[in-house]
Amino acid sequence: MTMQVRTHSNVTHIDFLPIAELQERLPSKAVIVTDDIVTELWESPHRRIVVPAGEASKSLHSYSQVVEQILSLGIDRNTIIVALGGGVVGDLAGFVAATILRGVTFLQVPTTLLAMVDSSIGGKVGVDTPQGKNLVGAFKPADQVLICSEFLDQLPARQLTNGMAEVWKYGFIGDAPELNKLRAGQAPLTEIIFDCLDHKARVVEEDEFETSGLRATLNFGHTVGHAIEKVLGYETFLHGEAISIGMAAEARLGELLGITEAGTAEQVKIDLASAGLPVDWDGLRDFEPLIAAMRSDKKATGGKLAFSLLTRLGDCKLVRDVDDESVQAALTA
Ligand code: GLY
Repeated sequence: MTMQVRTHSNVTHIDFLPIAELQERLPSKAVIVTDDIVTELWESPHRRIVVPAGEASKSLHSYSQVVEQILSLGIDRNTIIVALGGGVVGDLAGFVAATILRGVTFLQVPTTLLAMVDSSIGGKVGVDTPQGKNLVGAFKPADQVLICSEFLDQLPARQLTNGMAEVWKYGFIGDAPELNKLRAGQAPLTEIIFDCLDHKARVVEEDEFETSGLRATLNFGHTVGHAIEKVLGYETFLHGEAISIGMAAEARLGELLGITEAGTAEQVKIDLASAGLPVDWDGLRDFEPLIAAMRSDKKATGGKLAFSLLTRLGDCKLVRDVDDESVQAALTA
């Protein structure tokens, strides 16, 4: 299976391939950036830079360490940076590839479901700062994304469920038939990954730089989810778990505002819970730090919160200037 995504700077070629063919697809000039868990999963003779696994590696500190290590290898403009890992490694390595020598070729080899269906395409790369997630970065679409679904066989069950949060999100925001496929639970995972990538490819091709509001719909659940991650210091919940709680809360918010069809929030909750994802967290009642964290979300303007809210299952739109009282009511409901 193959797919292409046309962006302003390139065409990202996405290939599904067996892991046995991966080594021959990576040029010898490649420098692999990976983490200390993933590096054990797949061996190759390529040069490697290994960072500690976890969100803490998506920082300006790690960025400068990786850049220094790569520069000390004596690279040139033909060097290819390969991200081998999940979203953290992809975002970090992509930001390095976007900036080192003012930009070199970038390949993504996502090893988690989350990275396969979301972060490996669309070009959003960058790092977190103490002020919030992804506040420093660039658009650097990968030149190639190589998907080996065998990596998922080595993924802990919790990580696989974590990735399913983003999979369900695609169904909620724009693909009602996909929801039926997910509920039936019969489709092979590679088919589901392909469907998600196809959805994201269409969104990225139409609104790569998030100007029309279409790409912002991919952020359903993320305003609340990112705030949860921030107040918890990126511990306790995995990204998809926080987003799942966020989707349940934002579906409630949409109903409270009269934007989301009645009954949708209950169905979102049922679907996410059936996938084994969390849909509530006691800390939502302590809403003040969460709302403060939401103000650093990139969708917020002039201190006013913005959310991607469902109108119904299978449709979503960006809603600006949402008042704090409604957000508080949705969090504490
Ligand atoms: N993960 C959301 C986006 O790529 O826009």
